[in-house]
Amino acid sequence: MQLLDGNACSEEIRKEIKNEVENIIATGGRPPHLAAVLVGNDGASQNYVAFKIRDCEEVGFDSTTIRMDASITEQDLLNKVSELNENTAIDGFIIQLPLPAHINESKIVLAIDPKKDVDGFCPENVGNLNLGLPTYVSATPNGIMELLRRNKITTEGKHCVVLGRSNIVGTPMAILMSRNTDPGNATVTLAHSRTKNLKELCLTADILIVAIGKTEFLTADMVKEGAVVIDVGQTRVPDSTKKAGFRNVGDVDFENVKTKCSYITYVTGGVGPMTRASLLQNTLKAYRINRETSDV
Ligand code: GUN
Repeated sequence: MQLLDGNACSEEIRKEIKNEVENIIATGGRPPHLAAVLVGNDGASQNYVAFKIRDCEEVGFDSTTIRMDASITEQDLLNKVSELNENTAIDGFIIQLPLPAHINESKIVLAIDPKKDVDGFCPENVGNLNLGLPTYVSATPNGIMELLRRNKITTEGKHCVVLGRSNIVGTPMAILMSRNTDPGNATVTLAHSRTKNLKELCLTADILIVAIGKTEFLTADMVKEGAVVIDVGQTRVPDSTKKAGFRNVGDVDFENVKTKCSYITYVTGGVGPMTRASLLQNTLKAYRINRETSDV
């Protein structure tokens, strides 16, 4: 069994981006600029945004965190989105999800200028992804593709089972893995909560991408010898033995599944850092796209 090391792989990507930023600055340009909107006080979201901002600093991007109270109105947030759409000093921005229940997430995502949608959540970007046109691929699926590519994992002709059909991970993941690309060219099954005979299906998988949001859902009896297992899940489980009071648990029963795999990711240091690296790649792309259409 070999661990697919998202920390090492993302460090490589950050170094590449840092070099590109240094070249931009050396030729008189300004650094790319990412803004992150954080609504409310959800602990996990605060952490994710803090990491994203720290990554920006590391590669030399400018960054802005916009904190908004959990009680803001939908209109307040829509106004903020318009402001960020118009602000030519900001190349791309994200609205950290989930949002408080009284705000319609779709309405907010639909208001984002697709050119600045570095999460790749807008209909235009999702549509482009479906058609194989240039787009911002949402960060987690893009990070998983990079992890497979940089570790030279063969996917062509393999059976890839994606567990979970979310708009952010499962659905785009299935599209990317079935495309005529490398990695890609896999035969993909998108499985979900209503899939019948899930265990038997998983046992036919050469590659399992697990984004189902249930802790330790994928157990060893569901995994074929030699399979590649990618764990997207990350749930905080209370744990009084930890300083933080919780530990992160993935969607894969790592300790038992790892003995059957050729390659596997761990809940920390796997998909998470790759997701963050993808956001940096998308922000650099946004910088280039927006520079072509503005004189800032
Ligand atoms: N919440 C969980 N993952 C993500 C992500 O990739 N982007 C945003 N904006 N919110 C998230």
